[in-house]
Amino acid sequence: MLWKIFQFDELESTNDTAVTYPVGSIVVAARQTKGRGRCGRVWQSPVGNLHVSFVLKAPRNNPFWLSFVAGVCAARALQGHSVRLKWPNDVLLNGKKVCGILLEKVEDKMIVGMGINLVHAPQTDSLYEAAHLGGSVSVDEMINNLKSAFDHFLPLFEKEGFGLIRAEWMKYAGGLGEKITVCLPNGKAHGVFENIDDTGALVLKTSSGEKMTITAGDIFLNRKEND
Ligand code: BTN
Repeated sequence: MLWKIFQFDELESTNDTAVTYPVGSIVVAARQTKGRGRCGRVWQSPVGNLHVSFVLKAPRNNPFWLSFVAGVCAARALQGHSVRLKWPNDVLLNGKKVCGILLEKVEDKMIVGMGINLVHAPQTDSLYEAAHLGGSVSVDEMINNLKSAFDHFLPLFEKEGFGLIRAEWMKYAGGLGEKITVCLPNGKAHGVFENIDDTGALVLKTSSGEKMTITAGDIFLNRKEND
């Protein structure tokens, strides 16, 4: 893709600004005053960390799959660090969250917003402790890594479909085969994280042996912390 980068000192949220830019744009802000996380959470956005939104064409079939593409791209961009993906697309470093991804679909565009803790680890997500990369990667390096990752995986996704992305995602999957807790809009479910099915849903095997297929929620990889 022929990317065009737009860099700002301050924005409310790169995702909001990105909506006004064409497909192929990359909107970066040194800091955000109204950074958003998933589920209405605030994403604290101090100078030093990366706050970036990629403007992509929304896939016609299943836009949710792009969140796996984004997760896989973030994991690849963090090469050299031993990261895990937490369904659907949080990136964990030593069990702590180092990157959050917020996808928003606006008409035929998909805005893929990523916050990567390069220097600071603000406690933005009350569910997970935060980690940072200790300044080992610069903002520009990380943007370049992300660009290359999207250039690698987007055409593969378009050509081969979700199967290939799913397989790549599974290489980084955190908590597979382990007991996890899933926070659902209407309560919690406990069980063993069995798989991600071919639609991207999480398959949970509960203690009664029942298989639950979950399409939305937050998961905890360490059950003890959250019971
Ligand atoms: C989450 O884990 O809850 C998602 C966090 C997403 C944060 C990024 S920072 C760049 C973009 N702009 C925003 O307002 N949010 C996303």
